[in-house]
Amino acid sequence: MNIHESEKLAGILTKLNYKPTEDFNFADVIVFNTCCIRETAEQKIMGHIGSIKKLKKSKPNLKIILCGCMTQQEGKGNEILKKYPYVDYILGTHNISDLENYLISQQNTKINVEQTDGYINDNLPVTRTSMPNAWVNIIYGCNNFCTYCIVPYVRGRERSRSLNSIKEEVQSLVSAGYKEITLLGQNVNSYGNDLNDETTFAKLLNELAKIDGKFRLRFMTSHPKDFTDEVIEAIASNAKICKHIHLPVQSGSTAVLRAMNRKYTREAYIKLVNKIKERIPSVGITTDIMVGFNGETEQDFLDTLDLVEKCRFSSAFCFVYSKRKGTIGYNMTNIVPQEEKKKRIKQLIELQNKITRQENIKYISNTFEILTEGKNDKYQNTYCGRTDCGRLVNFKSDCDIMNKFVKVKIVKGTTATLWGEVIEVE
Ligand code: 5AD
Ligand code: SF4
Repeated sequence: MNIHESEKLAGILTKLNYKPTEDFNFADVIVFNTCCIRETAEQKIMGHIGSIKKLKKSKPNLKIILCGCMTQQEGKGNEILKKYPYVDYILGTHNISDLENYLISQQNTKINVEQTDGYINDNLPVTRTSMPNAWVNIIYGCNNFCTYCIVPYVRGRERSRSLNSIKEEVQSLVSAGYKEITLLGQNVNSYGNDLNDETTFAKLLNELAKIDGKFRLRFMTSHPKDFTDEVIEAIASNAKICKHIHLPVQSGSTAVLRAMNRKYTREAYIKLVNKIKERIPSVGITTDIMVGFNGETEQDFLDTLDLVEKCRFSSAFCFVYSKRKGTIGYNMTNIVPQEEKKKRIKQLIELQNKITRQENIKYISNTFEILTEGKNDKYQNTYCGRTDCGRLVNFKSDCDIMNKFVKVKIVKGTTATLWGEVIEVE
């Protein structure tokens, strides 16, 4: 999400004839696109802003601009200006198009953070940076209010783009040579709920899969409570839709899931995973898991480990819960001690790594179609790309195979990656 939003910010800067620089000492404008999902993300960005104080002093005309989730939090703009008075302009998440006006007219207003979130600007210029993949927003905001999560407060309510506008964008990206389209939304499965017609996420997937040309469709993120049979069917029956589902579980304990306001039980999640695996045997399911949410007992944590054993995710992003001001979780009192959180995250990561390695080994000797998306700088002539089911594979080639579909036979599997040999190039 943030990468794509940065592409939009870059689009505005490019339109105004700014050029990117590798070395920020040469910059005329520095835009920080911030995140506040966890405390660590916020600390990191604060560190970066602090580190350019000297540069701003030596270059008073340098413009330092902040936008993204962090700026949208109540009172945050003033807090930042108090701490870093040399920041020139703070933009909220609903105002990024105002960057253009600011750079043209250099108003004196320092904070531009609006609360209204009803408007979708489909026409922002975009400077894409991730060929052969193109990110496409389909729905903004979130209505779920998971009790740990700041997103609904900083991104507003769900707003779906029109199906036609998404279709046109995907069509033009495929014509421009993009071979992978990743649909983005905080909860893609609620796509269409606010459009008050028959539009659903399943319908969108089926419509986009009809677009001519050789390309892949991916999407993220899915909420388990909204994952319908129609969506499973759309994935199963369209070759263009990748067999990879990112399905955050957050916890394996029904009591913790209730406290998190996730609206599904541990049993319902496991049942959904089994149903998906049955209908789409080649599927790769990945997840997000949190440890140390308020009130999480040792038994709750053991239930999470047990769920991880049962679901056998291809991989998982594992997080330590950190409280976010403004959320319901912030005021809960049954806090898990830091030491306990550390112990649990270590155990969880060890278990998931073991499963990832075991699952990776199963792929050895199988051949996959892979879209080459990057070069591995550590090794000579080594490329990387993903299987349809989302696994990252490294492979060597003497000719340039960037942005091409290749057939690769897997020869080795470690926790982090698979290694393969190129059999065929498109
Ligand atoms: N603390 C830790 N992790 C969080 N996430 C969301 N909010 C928090 C928080 N307060 C994690 C969830 C989510 C992912 C994007 O970030 O697992 O799925
Ligand atoms: Fe946050 Fe929950 Fe919405 Fe995901 S679904 S963005 S975790 S509130």
